[in-house]
Amino acid sequence: MKIQLHKKSAKPAKTAIYFTRTTGKKDKPSLKVSCENKDIKKLIEDSFKAGEYKSAADEVTVFRKQTLDANENIVFVGLGDEKKINTQSFRQAAGTAYKFLKSQRLFQASVKTESYDFFKDAGKATYAFAEGLHLADYELNTYKSNNKKEKSEEFSFSVEPSKSAKEAAIKKSLEQAEITAECINFSRMLGDTPGNFMTPSILAKETQKAAQKVTNLKVTVWDKARIKKEKMGGLLGVSLGSGQDPRFIIMEYNGAPKSKKPVCFVGKGLTFDAGGISIKPAANMDEMRYDMCGGANVIGSVLAMAKLKLKVNVIALVPASENMLGENANKPGDILVARNGKSIEVLNTDAEGRLILADALCYASEQKPAAIFDAATLTGAMVIALGNVHTGFFTRDEKLRSKISKSAEEADELLWPMPITDFHSADMKGAFADLSNIASNRGAGSSTAAAFLENFVEDGIPWAHFDIAGTAWNQGQRYSYLPAKGATGSVIRTFIELAKNY
Ligand code: BES
Ligand code: ZN
Ligand code: ZN
Repeated sequence: MKIQLHKKSAKPAKTAIYFTRTTGKKDKPSLKVSCENKDIKKLIEDSFKAGEYKSAADEVTVFRKQTLDANENIVFVGLGDEKKINTQSFRQAAGTAYKFLKSQRLFQASVKTESYDFFKDAGKATYAFAEGLHLADYELNTYKSNNKKEKSEEFSFSVEPSKSAKEAAIKKSLEQAEITAECINFSRMLGDTPGNFMTPSILAKETQKAAQKVTNLKVTVWDKARIKKEKMGGLLGVSLGSGQDPRFIIMEYNGAPKSKKPVCFVGKGLTFDAGGISIKPAANMDEMRYDMCGGANVIGSVLAMAKLKLKVNVIALVPASENMLGENANKPGDILVARNGKSIEVLNTDAEGRLILADALCYASEQKPAAIFDAATLTGAMVIALGNVHTGFFTRDEKLRSKISKSAEEADELLWPMPITDFHSADMKGAFADLSNIASNRGAGSSTAAAFLENFVEDGIPWAHFDIAGTAWNQGQRYSYLPAKGATGSVIRTFIELAKNY
């Protein structure tokens, strides 16, 4: 998909896109549309008067074969009530417009920025709209035999700046939206790819390939022998039940002087979670391909940070493994020793994410970072608590908590702070080892999991854990720019915003 600034010399696009909004009372709203061409304005106003178009958020209509302007078809996209319009409204409108244009087979369109002149920041609106279009354009069809797209079905958009809009800001928005969305789509592809085509070694190779030509970005991959040598007993232990060897993926991006402390991002890269000997029920087990989304999303985040050339030093760490039931698999009661020497009783082999993250958090702490952020599809309890609307995050650091909330708001992602206390830590003590991998009390499974992880973060390093079990893949039709089923790339936008603030 191409989204470019409209060139004055270029032929007019076949289709024009205008945004509309409403004002006034809920039960008797009036239409507002910023559009210089009086005839076009009248076209939609008449439609509104007739009750055919209500300009609700995510409503679309088209007038074909018009001669009112240089564009033959005119599409109007509703943004809803003017008072509620924010940047996310534009991302949503993009997804709606994309689906509509596709259904109408209108693959070439021009976005009229004059129609959102009322919005406080045209650059940000353009950014969100462009990002929404790129996200909507992602599809994993590699595994379907009739997957060839015709050339005429490739979307191409142009953005026509209005007189008051700053062209340079819009151009920059388009470039940055494309970088970010493509990195998010890369993470989604990693997530959606089934377990047989996304093993730990393939995940590592895909990361290396994606980072190949990116300036100041280096990828190192440790194999099983190295993982053993590095005393990563958690990662090694979890991988024993599988025929696929584990990997430890390290991405280093240097966008700032060496003297500046790095920010570490850690992601759970469990390429398939069958549960191990504590096997999972069969229903929906295919969804456990998504158990590497923490890793995938951290990889996509750092890729985007590097491509956006952020002035920050970043390290991404992804422990990658399968959790299977082979003859060498962990048995309930087995004891593993993590990189920092702490011993762990494995009372349930399905609580494996925390075991592989333990080693990665130890390694992250050794880098003396400014902060550590980890993302993981860690607990089913998270899905029960917050569904697939909010990502729960855990930190004891108040300053960090507000920094995260601000970044999420800027990124238009929904996050919710969750508790982590000494009560939760006490529940994770082991009987025959330092720690147990499951809690001794019922309830608060996401908080006790977070408290377990805390044992591997060195004192004094600001740390936050993001449990994306509910938000890593989509269920239902909440966002117009995401399909009803599939990986979402959750927390990537927040992580990028966070990295901008170090
Ligand atoms: N990958 C799962 C968590 C999960 C469950 C993610 C459902 C997304 C949807 C994790 O490895 C797991 O199985 N956790 C257990 C922990 C329990 C045994 C303490 C869980 O949540 O049931
Ligand atoms: Zn599990
Ligand atoms: Zn898991």
